[in-house]
Amino acid sequence: MNYDIAIDGPAGAGKSTIAKRLAKTLDLIYVDTGAMYRAIGLYMIRKGVNSSDEAAVVKALKDVDVDIRYEEGMQIVILNGENVNGLIRTEEVGMAASAFSALAPVRAHLLNLQQGLAKRSDVVMDGRDIGTAILPSAFLKIYLTASSAERAKRRYKELLEKGESADLAKIEEDIIKRDEQDMTRTVSPLKKADDAVVVDASFMNIEEVTDTILKTYNDKKETK
Ligand code: DC
Repeated sequence: MNYDIAIDGPAGAGKSTIAKRLAKTLDLIYVDTGAMYRAIGLYMIRKGVNSSDEAAVVKALKDVDVDIRYEEGMQIVILNGENVNGLIRTEEVGMAASAFSALAPVRAHLLNLQQGLAKRSDVVMDGRDIGTAILPSAFLKIYLTASSAERAKRRYKELLEKGESADLAKIEEDIIKRDEQDMTRTVSPLKKADDAVVVDASFMNIEEVTDTILKTYNDKKETK
């Protein structure tokens, strides 16, 4: 019996924050699959590969080795031996990750890594296709969502807190564009798995979302 938790949902819904908290409370390994796609996005930006040129992408992928390591419980993404954690959180890399992740060879490139991690230990894995494609028999599947306006507001606040300038309308526009890209691609699009529990975090804080999921998880464990 596995006790994996799969969390899918659109960008900025709070998946990683919630997943980290669940992992800590339940003593599970947190796996951030978006970071792996971001590492590939970064590689393609560096090499000037265009996502519309699938043959070039396939060729470039031959030289891409993505791996992960854990340091003090934190996931470190390694791209061809380089720790790229500090380089993959930009909007540019996020958009590239979204564009390249629509291609089947890119998804195939990360499949073994993702499924292998869940074989080794019980995980909280977040992404877009975890409940539908990567871990179809996860113990609990959550579809975590929030309105684009709320997600944009949170991202806007985060940037201001970091002392960066931000444009709320542009942030929401980017979020909507990324949702559209992730939900309409033909290979493993973002969608709720039939057996996923939907949690709408538009008007819930982090504690409320975490507690809701923990309760669902514990209730399910008790009835098993
Ligand atoms: O969760 P994130 O913002 O770090 O993900 C970046 C992009 O990677 C996202 O827009 C789509 C893609 N992705 C994916 O296709 N499948 C996943 N399991 C995780 C991310």
